[in-house]
Amino acid sequence: MKNISLNIDKALGTVTKEQVYAQAKKASECNAKLQNGNGAGNDFLGWLHLPSSITEAEIEDIEKSASVLRSKCEVVVAIGIGGSYLGTKAVVEALNNSFDWLHTDRKNPVLLYAGNNIGEDYLYELCEILKGKQFGLINISKSGTTTEPALAFRMLKKQLEDAVGKEEAKHRIVAITDAKKGALRSLADKEGYKTFIIPDNVGGRFSVLTPVGLLPIAVAGINIRELIAGAVSLEKTTDTTVPFEENISEIYAAVRNELYKSGKKVEILANFNPKLHFIAEWWKQLYGESEGKDHKGIFPASVDLTTDLHSMGQWIQDGERIIFETVISVEEPEHKVIVPTDEANLDGLNFLAGKHVDEVNKMAELGTQLAHVDGGVPNIKICLPKMSAYYIGQLFYFFERACGISGYMLDVNPFNQPGVEAYKKNMFALLNKPGYEKESEAIKAKL
Ligand code: PA5
Repeated sequence: MKNISLNIDKALGTVTKEQVYAQAKKASECNAKLQNGNGAGNDFLGWLHLPSSITEAEIEDIEKSASVLRSKCEVVVAIGIGGSYLGTKAVVEALNNSFDWLHTDRKNPVLLYAGNNIGEDYLYELCEILKGKQFGLINISKSGTTTEPALAFRMLKKQLEDAVGKEEAKHRIVAITDAKKGALRSLADKEGYKTFIIPDNVGGRFSVLTPVGLLPIAVAGINIRELIAGAVSLEKTTDTTVPFEENISEIYAAVRNELYKSGKKVEILANFNPKLHFIAEWWKQLYGESEGKDHKGIFPASVDLTTDLHSMGQWIQDGERIIFETVISVEEPEHKVIVPTDEANLDGLNFLAGKHVDEVNKMAELGTQLAHVDGGVPNIKICLPKMSAYYIGQLFYFFERACGISGYMLDVNPFNQPGVEAYKKNMFALLNKPGYEKESEAIKAKL
């Protein structure tokens, strides 16, 4: 079995190989801090051995719940925000047919999302489309108190109960939350929903391989065992016993920190496969929330190529030189599409006739990489042998481990997110939430 791979050759120039390798000791020490649990935020390291410690009974329980929802529902709404939503969306978009919802012989329920925004029109349209459909809900919130999913759940729960009755609704609702605390835990216990627990020591953005991601991913018909197996394999190959020169998480953490020190403040995660769009969204949350603190941290951005070469391409090629790029490249597409010959050749494309579309894409990728490097944009490349649950599992674990190492190299606590509270405090004050009287007064004085 192949593995995902990392190539930093085209990042060398702005920083040298010697500079990167001079960070080997620090990267390995930071990896050891994760392993030994003696770094900042060490009460949130449950994700580290999650892939290898998940039990057969736990997997079966998730699969069983997934098959109940699959048998009862044509649509399942996954309710959650941030780490309680992005991992699922990333896997489902990457692995399921892009037009699955249009297939009349579809085998999987359509997975829709709610609670990841407060858009009134979005919620209206969602409620409208669910009318007359057999649907179920997976309500995911680690804290159990987040406003966005709680609001969406309140509405959708009522709609479901009105449609199928309270008793049947209970069998179509699954709650994934804390073992003991939070409003969702109390509600689920009171209503008697099937629940799954998010371990205390796993933060939201590191939770894709808990029921948070595994249940909705299984509902979407994706093999969660392969996803876990991929992550297990990377858990081994990024372990502290693996030397720096073979440890891709340590190398990635070292090179991005060296680039950051040299003035590259923005990392753009690029893909040449639109199905990877939400992998980048998941990655942005992982790195943004983990590293952006104490007025430090690389800004994680993303582009879908070649699409965005026709929008952001100009900036990347020629704008301020504060960026580096990490490209996720997929070696083998799942399907073959050959460019046909056209006798008239009015579009002048016969030079491509007989080639696979992916050959064109790969040359676009190579051409872009060379152009960006020439333009002063260091390039890191991550290769996936193909799009499969196994390699996505590897990719998740690779990025998670590298994120922990990288955060420690930057000297921040990668496992908290104090900055997220600021908007919540203001929002509650503006909405006159009971208990926020003082804040309400203070904020209104500012308006
Ligand atoms: O990474 C995190 O902890 C956050 O982004 C959370 O995932 C997000 O805020 C959702 O929180 P919760 O699952 O508690 O509703």
